[in-house]
Amino acid sequence: MKFQKIVDDIYRLAVNIEDENYLFEGIWPIPHGISINAYLIKGEKNVLIDLTQDIMGFPKAITGQMEGLSLAVEDIDIIVVNHMEPDHAGWLREFCKKNTKGLIYCTKKAVPLLEAFGRVPADRAVAITDGMTLEVGEYELQFFETPNIHWPETMMTYETKRKILFACDAFGSYGKVTEDAIFDDQLSEEKHAFFENEALRYYANIVAAFSGAVLKGLTKLSGLDVKIICPSHGIIWRENPGVIIDHYKRYAEYSKGPAEREITLVWSSMYGSTKSMLNLVVETIRKHKIPVHVYQAPGDDIGYILAGAWKSAGLIFGMPTYEYKVFPPMSHVIDELLVKKVTNKKVFRFGSYGWVGGAQRDFESKIEKSGWDLLGFYEWQGAPTREDEQALVQKIDAFCEELIKFTE
Ligand SMILES: Cc1cc2nc3c(=O)[nH]c(=O)nc-3n(C[C@H](O)[C@H](O)[C@H](O)COP(=O)(O)O)c2cc1C
Ligand SMILES: [Fe+2]
Ligand SMILES: [Fe+2]
Repeated sequence: MKFQKIVDDIYRLAVNIEDENYLFEGIWPIPHGISINAYLIKGEKNVLIDLTQDIMGFPKAITGQMEGLSLAVEDIDIIVVNHMEPDHAGWLREFCKKNTKGLIYCTKKAVPLLEAFGRVPADRAVAITDGMTLEVGEYELQFFETPNIHWPETMMTYETKRKILFACDAFGSYGKVTEDAIFDDQLSEEKHAFFENEALRYYANIVAAFSGAVLKGLTKLSGLDVKIICPSHGIIWRENPGVIIDHYKRYAEYSKGPAEREITLVWSSMYGSTKSMLNLVVETIRKHKIPVHVYQAPGDDIGYILAGAWKSAGLIFGMPTYEYKVFPPMSHVIDELLVKKVTNKKVFRFGSYGWVGGAQRDFESKIEKSGWDLLGFYEWQGAPTREDEQALVQKIDAFCEELIKFTE
């Protein structure tokens, strides 16, 4: 990839993770890749905003892009570290061995992390104060603390003259970015839909648990006149930055509920008794014209289940009893949903048992503090009878009616 000009002497330096088997943060599948974007301001003072991950030859690729602008690592005067997560700051350690003059602008909370992750001495750092400005030639940078989007030390950098927001992880998405389409106005409708999906999955996987901080950050930055958003993952928004701001606001507000009038249904089955009710449940939901996203546990990846659950106002779990408890793979799904603070949902459970059950009691105790409203459940012994089918359909009908009211 080549460097790309954003405006005047401001450039995007970027790489894509394209290995289909790579797990982002060691957990999230990214079958469509992800871009890692750094930004460079070339001038009287050269500024590098966020770096890159130190894997797959990425530092060399970024160095090569800098060379295209006749700059070497040693020529950087100011390094802005918006966020210390190694997908951006991973290169810092090697970078600072070569570049011994550049000052690192970051939050106070990032300073000890510079040492811990990058072995960079604290005296290289300038701890910003919230709203502080820094003249760099004909540009001016302003720094804003945005804690917990998504680590405690996170900040954003605003270039006040061209009104560009370097937002780091905020407003980011999965999905590799190709050279011919790095800006929102270069994307087809289909590509926009792709990035919207990838932004939701990225949000649900990486940012969701910090939705309160996102809403605070959005309020704090709402006074800024932002013409261009440059995130550290995904495309640059210059034609209509409001689109991605609105998406993020909507995603963050799902934490306060209700989310969309949709249902995410996660099911597990050992011998097919629970599974035998699946089609009936799906058909019943569809009868109410409610979109339903179906996932199996184990089988479907938790990263996808999270995205579905985050966006859906309704959650339905189908799982049998296993050793007097929730079927273990489903237990893992529920734990992960709770870690990500999936909350304010209408919930239903169905499933088969062999002798006395136990899953329902375990399920209820697991979700006690979840903020989920369990509207009902249906259990049966062994294989379901016609009466079981009818009873379940009635309960799903009632659930759907409640969900429609909840999302009105
Ligand atoms: C390993 C194992 C553990 C089980 N533990 C229980 C249990 O604690 N209580 C119970 O009522 N049934 C238990 N069962 C029976 C299942 O819940 C029952 O077979 C149910 O119909 C399985 O539904 P499925 O075919 O959808 O997996 C267990 C079954 C297995 C294979
Ligand atoms: Fe991050
Ligand atoms: Fe990141």
